[in-house]
Amino acid sequence: MPARELVVGGDSAIGGALAGHFSDAGWQVQATTRRPDQVDEGRPYLDLAAPTALPPADVVLMCAAVARIGDCENNPTSSHAINVDGTLAVARQMAGQGAHVLLLSTDNVFDGRKAKRDRNAGPCPTCAYGRQKAEAEAGILALGDRGAVLRLSKVLTPGNELLADWAEALAAGQTIAPFHDLYLAPVTVDLVAELAIRIAGERAGERAGGIFGGIFQCAGAEDRNYVDLARILLAEHGGDEDLIQPISCRDTNMPAAAGPRHTSLEMAVEQNLWGIAAPEFGATARAVILAGNASPA
Ligand SMILES: NC(=O)c1ccc[n+]([C@@H]2O[C@H](COP(=O)([O-])OP(=O)(O)OC[C@H]3O[C@@H](n4cnc5c(N)ncnc54)[C@H](OP(=O)(O)O)[C@@H]3O)[C@@H](O)[C@H]2O)c1
Repeated sequence: MPARELVVGGDSAIGGALAGHFSDAGWQVQATTRRPDQVDEGRPYLDLAAPTALPPADVVLMCAAVARIGDCENNPTSSHAINVDGTLAVARQMAGQGAHVLLLSTDNVFDGRKAKRDRNAGPCPTCAYGRQKAEAEAGILALGDRGAVLRLSKVLTPGNELLADWAEALAAGQTIAPFHDLYLAPVTVDLVAELAIRIAGERAGERAGGIFGGIFQCAGAEDRNYVDLARILLAEHGGDEDLIQPISCRDTNMPAAAGPRHTSLEMAVEQNLWGIAAPEFGATARAVILAGNASPA
């Protein structure tokens, strides 16, 4: 019988993509939804605000969350109920039934002051989202070898809305306004999937001496700004450099905590165990541009 994967949050950008990757890798996948019209045999209903019983699984991938920094900042109580209380209730319930639980977390558990943050440095979040994720991480790690955390920096999916909007504007000869003071160390969702499948495989002792629990990290090798991202898009498209008109994120209503100087995370363990290294900025950007609709016709 194939190993069973339950994705909690199958409608999330990352969860939906990971469900497909696990299925391609031979896992039997179910993915929860809180949208009544999406519920069917492979899509059990789950609202983390009021968790209910779920089908058995070997590995549970916790993707659902209030994942926007501003939403957590503006609604700290209701987002805590989802990102911490509901998340840990489901994790404990499933671990109690023998599942291994992998939580998707974030570089926002740190303060963004240092590059390539050590996984063993204590969390030092500066926003509600980061504090909630740090609390959820602690609850997951308390599950011992039944709980693991995968911290991610910015994940670029092929249909990335910002890149698609920029591509459309550039194709029409319109200017775009990337932030010169907002940084990212992006990874592709394919890399996240590769890592998640490796970690999930640990629970079956796929690697000699392998264990499941602990903290894993996945982030780009360097933090660069959104102007650099726009330049790579322009280079793929061809066009006038003047179409890029950088602005400051401080001139928008973006919460201050949404713009840390550093988001990168060290990946020494991932490199040692599986040869998965932090990817180069340009390679990630180009892969996403080429894979999605972001490249203008
Ligand atoms: N995207 C990134 O760059 C990034 C970086 C670091 C970490 N992460 C983490 O990775 C995970 C996935 O991120 P994402 O960008 O794919 O998120 P996303 O696209 O914003 O999706 C979040 C999902 O959570 C679901 N959700 C929200 N409240 C819920 C509730 N009460 N019950 C059940 N489901 C609920 C939403 O359901 P609906 O679709 O029905 O609204 C949505 O599908 C999150 O845990 C996030 O914190 C993401």
